[in-house]
Amino acid sequence: MQTEEEITPPRVLIVDDQPLTRELMTLVVQAQGYKTLIATNGAEALAIAAKRSLDLVILDVVMPGMDGFEVTRRLRAEERTRILPIVIVSALDDKESRIKGLAAGADDFLTRPVDRLELKIRLQNLLRMKRFQDQLAGQNAVLERKVELRTEELERSNRETIHTLIRAAAHRDDESGAHVKRMGLYSTLLSQRVGLDAQFCVTIGFASQLHDIGKIGIPDRILEKPEALGDEEWEIMKTHTEIGGRMLALNSSPYLAMAADIARAHHEHWDGSGYPRGLKGDAIPVSARITQLCDTYDTLRSRRPYKPPLDHSAASASILMGDSKSKPTHFDPAILAAFRSGVADFRDIFETIRD
Ligand SMILES: [Fe+2]
Ligand SMILES: [Fe+2]
Repeated sequence: MQTEEEITPPRVLIVDDQPLTRELMTLVVQAQGYKTLIATNGAEALAIAAKRSLDLVILDVVMPGMDGFEVTRRLRAEERTRILPIVIVSALDDKESRIKGLAAGADDFLTRPVDRLELKIRLQNLLRMKRFQDQLAGQNAVLERKVELRTEELERSNRETIHTLIRAAAHRDDESGAHVKRMGLYSTLLSQRVGLDAQFCVTIGFASQLHDIGKIGIPDRILEKPEALGDEEWEIMKTHTEIGGRMLALNSSPYLAMAADIARAHHEHWDGSGYPRGLKGDAIPVSARITQLCDTYDTLRSRRPYKPPLDHSAASASILMGDSKSKPTHFDPAILAAFRSGVADFRDIFETIRD
């Protein structure tokens, strides 16, 4: 059986300005079964190391221009050659150069004349270390990829769960599902206009579609009543907010955590006149403030047992200027300003996604 070294022989870069010593070193290294690359100076060595994949560098210390210490320092400073084994070879048999070489980051130091057996053993040791490092790096890359795939998988199943919930919510409320689909689009676009971050804008696109999921807990006689609701019925209807909040609460999914906030607070008003808690201003989560405005627009444009649908300009005027039920103070002023500047988006979404 072939060893790993025979299948892919290690690549050794030999850097030396003297043709004769270069030739000699090349012969010795090739005799070990390694592949050799040649550089005649430091700059050339750095250029090769930046492009080719190497397993070891044998570096002469004394060269015109950049010396071996400098080449070592520069190789160590680059990410791709940071752990590449480097052997410094020099005629200087003084302690100072040896220390200087090691300080620059060399792994080993040889003195000339180079003893063949010694070189062979040192190269073998360093190349074995390099192989371990490569294997480790390879395993890390595989592990990282596995974690990535697993995260994508979780994300996908998370979204599938949410789509199932959305279908359940829509089934109970608007049978075509067009209202909740529009809600997802309005809320993402409005969040973008408000200047919220990209992750928020994606999350609210899902979460806002669950705003009325609590209607699952409202009796049919109230939900399907063709006439306007009586006081007591209306009080029961209002509980869809708390029911939805409880259904979605304590969830570690960021989509469902936001959906819980929205379900609970999408009928709160900025001025404190909303329900169920009469929260005011910043006490209402921003996701719910955005959803509230989108829901108001869509409800104004839709036919209800108790009211005809409004056209785009009448609906947006109701929101911006107020009418018998809606007041501009119901809305967060920043969100209202974003609505004003992007009002055409609302018309386009409503007109594209019909019941
Ligand atoms: Fe609602
Ligand atoms: Fe709604």
